[in-house]
Amino acid sequence: MDRVRVGVLISGRGSNLEALMAAARAPDYPAEIVLVISNVAGAKGLDLATRAGIPTRVISHKDFPDRAAFDAALDTALREAGATLVCLAGFMRLLGEKFAEDWRDRVLNIHPSLLPAFPGLDTHRKVLEAGVKISGCTVHIVRPELDDGPILVQAAVPVAEGDTPESLAARILELEPQCYPLALRLLASGQVRIQGRRASLAAASAGTGLVNPAGPKRP
Ligand code: GRF
Repeated sequence: MDRVRVGVLISGRGSNLEALMAAARAPDYPAEIVLVISNVAGAKGLDLATRAGIPTRVISHKDFPDRAAFDAALDTALREAGATLVCLAGFMRLLGEKFAEDWRDRVLNIHPSLLPAFPGLDTHRKVLEAGVKISGCTVHIVRPELDDGPILVQAAVPVAEGDTPESLAARILELEPQCYPLALRLLASGQVRIQGRRASLAAASAGTGLVNPAGPKRP
């Protein structure tokens, strides 16, 4: 089976990268990770990729005069690796409009809230301040606007009395490794149809979403 070649962009520990790497080890997984790029030298995720024999690059935004030049360097590295899909996995830079359009419908991101609620940074503190009773994570297609693109997969967890941003983040982080590989599988296997702001899934995957009312457990 020809597997779709994926580039993963990271900035830190790479927990989502690790989940995608683990999923891609399955012989029937429709995607393979061919390059990991970090904008931060020394990011822990780079070690994970190197140990797995996956090529890595550090492309620091600090080495470029502006966002367009940085994005162009990312684009060149991804194309040289033959990547046709991109996964943002804890990648802390906003991609510019040209990149988002050049890679339209081919870039995924994971965000630790139930979008469109609570986009942006400091998510868990905002969730707790708002007093909402559920939160979760969202894997979506990237559009130029931050955390705003067609949604593929979401997972929900309860917000517990006494939760802190850290305890809520940890509960959601239990779900992310299930959501991201599922979303990439759907996109890489052609089961996703993007129509405007909506992503619809092929019948076989309809209703794909994960709800863990009891909190973290493996499916
Ligand atoms: C996760 O909460 C993810 O939702 C967000 O960045 C955080 C760290 O991700 N995108 P990772 O551990 O670096 O993959």
